[in-house]
Amino acid sequence: MKVGILGSGDVGKALAAGFLRHGHEVTMGTREASKLADWAEKNPKALVGSVTDTAKWADVVVLAVKGAAAADALRGAGVENLSGKTVIDATNPIADAAPSNGVLRFFTNLDESLMERLQQEFPKVRFVKAFNSVGNGLMVNPKFPGGKPTMFICGNDDAAKKMVAGILDQFGWETADMGKAEAARAIEPLCMLWCIPGFLRNEWSHAFKLLV
Ligand SMILES: NC(=O)c1ccc[n+]([C@@H]2O[C@H](COP(=O)([O-])OP(=O)(O)OC[C@H]3O[C@@H](n4cnc5c(N)ncnc54)[C@H](OP(=O)(O)O)[C@@H]3O)[C@@H](O)[C@H]2O)c1
Repeated sequence: MKVGILGSGDVGKALAAGFLRHGHEVTMGTREASKLADWAEKNPKALVGSVTDTAKWADVVVLAVKGAAAADALRGAGVENLSGKTVIDATNPIADAAPSNGVLRFFTNLDESLMERLQQEFPKVRFVKAFNSVGNGLMVNPKFPGGKPTMFICGNDDAAKKMVAGILDQFGWETADMGKAEAARAIEPLCMLWCIPGFLRNEWSHAFKLLV
């Protein structure tokens, strides 16, 4: 697949490396390509482009920007370049405020997630929430003594979720499909839960598993 990644932070880089490792083509879409000069040198198989060109080129897009900038980044990519495509939404709606006893603050509430806001503004985009509930260092083929971890996903389009489940399988995850976009109200706060041991005890090496 041609995977276009919007955002040049740790998540964008980790997922780009994962897609390359699993044989996909990757373009990193950024507002400032110079930021990725070193990274591009170390990852010669990847392309770096503008946000718009990346969205146009891609079969599937990964949204890996700061949560507060997510809608802006999609507007910059161009709705016409995203319509009908799957957008894997790895963002979290983290507010610009310090955590409280290790608990992150969000700019959304429990009745409206960031992904629902994006789905409402971009109705023709097939959003799938994924990769938001684990640190970037564990996103690709994590190894745990307790076996494969679970990635909770949701989204309104079943075919898009099936495709994302295939990617997660390649990346060494079990997928738990939690339903439509509203389920992002529950999946986005998993990021808060995941970060608490990190902020309180500097423990960042865990992932969630659903036992059935
Ligand atoms: N860090 C983690 O381990 C982790 C884990 C799970 C989920 N997440 C979520 O994944 C997302 C990315 O996290 P991150 O840690 O890689 O980096 P980040 O610092 O949250 O965001 C990185 C990217 O956001 C883009 N950005 C910032 N302001 C923007 C704006 N006004 N318009 C368009 N793009 C803008 C920038 O892209 P360019 O400057 O290149 O255009 C930048 O590279 C976040 O939503 C985060 O909550 C992070």
